[in-house]
Amino acid sequence: MTSESGSSLFERRLVIVSGKGGTGKTSVAAALALGAARAGRRVLVAEVGPDEHLPGLLEPGAAPVGYAGRELLPGLTSMRVDPYDALGEYLALQLGAGPLIRMVLRNRGFRQLMDASPGWRELITLGKVWHLGEQRDASGQPLYDLIVVDAPATGHGITLLDVPRVVVSAVRAGPLRRHTSRVEAMLRDPDHTLLLPVALAEELPARETAEFVARVRQEIGIPVDRVVVNAVMPAPYPPGLENLEAKLARLPDTCLEGVLPRPSVLAASVAHLRARHELNRRYVEEIGASTELPVIELPYLMTGTQGREPLQQLGEALVAPPRVVAA
Ligand SMILES: Nc1ncnc2c1ncn2[C@@H]1O[C@H](COP(=O)(O)OP(=O)(O)OP(=O)(O)O)[C@@H](O)[C@H]1O
Ligand SMILES: [Mg+2]
Repeated sequence: MTSESGSSLFERRLVIVSGKGGTGKTSVAAALALGAARAGRRVLVAEVGPDEHLPGLLEPGAAPVGYAGRELLPGLTSMRVDPYDALGEYLALQLGAGPLIRMVLRNRGFRQLMDASPGWRELITLGKVWHLGEQRDASGQPLYDLIVVDAPATGHGITLLDVPRVVVSAVRAGPLRRHTSRVEAMLRDPDHTLLLPVALAEELPARETAEFVARVRQEIGIPVDRVVVNAVMPAPYPPGLENLEAKLARLPDTCLEGVLPRPSVLAASVAHLRARHELNRRYVEEIGASTELPVIELPYLMTGTQGREPLQQLGEALVAPPRVVAA
């Protein structure tokens, strides 16, 4: 069964790609940004975290884009949101003393103090994302049709998403509350924002994804209408060849000599791929059932995800109608 109810990913203004480490967040963010840019959208993809991986996926060998960002492809700008850069920009705008602020931000003691302070990184990062969404071009149109955020892996990115709610509930009045309320309203607006969880079809990631989605629904309130299950191993042979292993196992070990590895070796390889495929299939269904969300399945690509061709392939699978898993 498929569902057409979830509107297209490209219609949102902000898509936050989130998930545990190594699930494929950066690949999914890059694939989504590439697909949207090819469909004529002006896209900004913002990588949150200490490292830059995304430009190198889209343009192997690309120089870092940094906080200033750079247009990597027509209609696709990439940047890395560093919280200290964002804080400097914010303070300079508020106080109008850029050089002095930059000096303070570089100070080691100040950094130690800030590094020990919770919450500000997330708040300033989301403030920057909000600000980027407010930017206009010369004709008054939004500078970006779509902003894709590649969220940090820590705790599934939950801290990043939860800080505005915590601040709004703790701070009763004043500019911090006003500013944070705007950010929170942006995050909770279903016409504007979508949280896109990325999971792997394995036991632990499946369980963690179900817990993450439950928390998002119960506490955080950011719209989520589908879950991406990445790197699903396709069937190792076409339909109708299900007994391939048995057939290979029946062949004499010398019959392929000089042409291919021994049939027993081929049978073991096929068995391994089939087991992986079956395990993945089981957890795709489980993730769909436990999150009660339609699933978008992305294939495991033997080539990896670096370069435009594999990303385009992932991008096409990403915009397919999500599949509703029967409970
Ligand atoms: N569908 C896929 N098929 C094959 N390889 C994949 C797939 N998706 C991701 N990978 C590979 O898995 C690795 C991790 O992917 P990626 O960097 O996108 O994950 P991430 O969640 O952003 O990781 P991190 O938490 O470290 O930021 C990369 O080498 C990537 O090329
Ligand atoms: Mg990443």
